[in-house]
Amino acid sequence: MNPVMSRRRLLMGASLFGGAAALQSMTGGSVRLLNSAMAEIGAPAVPIRMSSNENPWGPSKLAIAAMEQAFDQSNLYGGIAGKIFELQSRIEGVPASHITMSAGSGEILQAAGVLAALEPGSVVAPYPTFSQSVRAAESLGAEVINVPVGEDMHIDLKAMYAAIRPDTRMVYLCNPNNPIPSIIEKKALEDFVRTVAKDRLVFIDEAYYEYVDNPDFSSMMHLVAEGLNNVLIARTASKIHGFAGLRVGFGFAHPDVLAKLNRVMTGSVNILAEHAAYASYQDSEFQDFSRMKNKEGLAILEGMYDELGLKYVKSNANFSFVETGIDVREFQQAMREHNILVGRPFEPFTRWARISIAKPEEMSYLVQTYKKLYG
Ligand SMILES: Cc1ncc(COP(=O)(O)O)c(C=O)c1O
Repeated sequence: MNPVMSRRRLLMGASLFGGAAALQSMTGGSVRLLNSAMAEIGAPAVPIRMSSNENPWGPSKLAIAAMEQAFDQSNLYGGIAGKIFELQSRIEGVPASHITMSAGSGEILQAAGVLAALEPGSVVAPYPTFSQSVRAAESLGAEVINVPVGEDMHIDLKAMYAAIRPDTRMVYLCNPNNPIPSIIEKKALEDFVRTVAKDRLVFIDEAYYEYVDNPDFSSMMHLVAEGLNNVLIARTASKIHGFAGLRVGFGFAHPDVLAKLNRVMTGSVNILAEHAAYASYQDSEFQDFSRMKNKEGLAILEGMYDELGLKYVKSNANFSFVETGIDVREFQQAMREHNILVGRPFEPFTRWARISIAKPEEMSYLVQTYKKLYG
């Protein structure tokens, strides 16, 4: 981009981004008006992150204040894990003995993969999905059985069931899935879990569950509460709590499963992140705000898909998956030139893009850019 032009656009961007926000609140979030009546939105000064499904609003002010107050405790090993387990226990209706905490849920995913590979065998997972757990198992010698999503882009439970072998140690499910933000129908999922968990670990990654607004969805936490063995649920503070850089995650399972899992976990949550988590999980206002803003951003993006007739999977999370028809590396590069970062390629959907939901005005900028390039 011409440097003179880019400075001019940068200045424009600074004021217009404010203008977009004002217009948004004036119109009560009337997306159509925002998309069509907006003056040119200037390029942002720093790249907008629509690549990693982060929360652009977080962490909450209460979480930040809690960290500030805890700075002088940084010399201590011992934190407030017990209080956090009690809080999670109250929120989830699961005994504290059924909860473990980790440095991001990625640690639970990694440890579950290691557990699954301790004895020779296979792991079954949908494809595509968030692959951290099955990759950990694979690196230690487990065979990964990938089960393609159905034509409707949903996880195909029947095909997953058929793929399970006597040597299958773990079945991984991501609900909502990632990169495809679809959900698994709750009754079918519960039946699947009750059957499959009789003989092997069923691991359900619920990283995005707080964003779901869909009557067909249910967390499987009640199965852990019921005391069912062989069910592990991962949750993360990285998404709706905006803690991606702070690293806090949780595992929920029968104490027998957690004892094995804890033996192979290597990270620990630092005392500042613990205080932040304790505050954030009580800050329902911030979670509601994040959910509301995510909906606004999604409406802007999905509004454009509808307008342009693009095929996409209706989102149950804080990201979307759309068939641009453009090779995703090329699309990434084109967007990068306009200071927008979008998701990496996810085989076999190389002409689809995963776009994380940023702030509403930033989504409007993406819409403007997309339409200019491809509309
Ligand atoms: C489905 C899913 N699970 C787990 C994670 C890991 O998140 P974290 O380690 O930050 O908790 C991610 C991150 O994007 C994810 O998408």
